[in-house]
Amino acid sequence: MNIKKRNFPSHIAIIMDGNGRWAKKRGQPKIFGHKEGIKAVYRSLQFALFNNIKVLTLYAFSSENWRRSSIEVENLMFLFEYILKKDIFNLNKYNVKLKILGNKRKLHCTLQKQIKISELLTSKNKGLKLNIAINYGGRQDILYGIKNIINEILSGKLKMSDIKEDTFSSVLSTRFLPPVDLLIRTGGNIRISNFLLWEIAYSELYFTNIFWPDFDNNSFIAAINQFKKRKRNFGK
Ligand code: IPE
Ligand code: IPE
Ligand code: MG
Repeated sequence: MNIKKRNFPSHIAIIMDGNGRWAKKRGQPKIFGHKEGIKAVYRSLQFALFNNIKVLTLYAFSSENWRRSSIEVENLMFLFEYILKKDIFNLNKYNVKLKILGNKRKLHCTLQKQIKISELLTSKNKGLKLNIAINYGGRQDILYGIKNIINEILSGKLKMSDIKEDTFSSVLSTRFLPPVDLLIRTGGNIRISNFLLWEIAYSELYFTNIFWPDFDNNSFIAAINQFKKRKRNFGK
């Protein structure tokens, strides 16, 4: 399971896609795929902890996923809350610092409460930074940041000439995170689906046909090995 640490990505983001098709292939309802997907989350988390990955950012629910059937949305929201309640003490034991990215206001108040408790409990931890994006949209995050900046300008706290790239990074919900080194998408689609936009300007992108519930340590190693082969130029 261990792999050589040279040129290791510090921040890995994952678009965990393919739960529905994984379940369909087995003649099962989508929720079955989502539940199996949670096992893949645990596997990835263990892998990240074992290999000292600094930041893991997982896309769990996009701002567009509200367009799904109400029963699927309810199932997913129930799962998020259930998992947080069940596992936050364990995450804390492993020194994980949890953050939920995305607009929480639209989430059920009991889920919002659980998020607050979980983030607070792990806020001082210095180990793996685990970010889970729920009701997250890259465009919405950018828009929210722009409004923040405009407010600062209108109130005289910020001058137009002071706005740099860093100023903008600092108003996004990912402001406390280092740049994304590697973005992985499972499930076979070659798109970003409104995940991190500004943040992936120079990330290495890795797409695999593997459905998320099948994503295991070997799949993770394959992605990292591919990353290690890439030559990152950053325009040089
Ligand atoms: C990704 O799996 C999980 C979420 C979006 C919550 P999907 O449910 O999108 O699975 P497919 O793409 O239909 O197979
Ligand atoms: C992206 O998957 C969102 C998550 C994995 C949470 P989708 O299944 O929602 O993406 P599209 O609709 O195929 O672009
Ligand atoms: Mg999908």
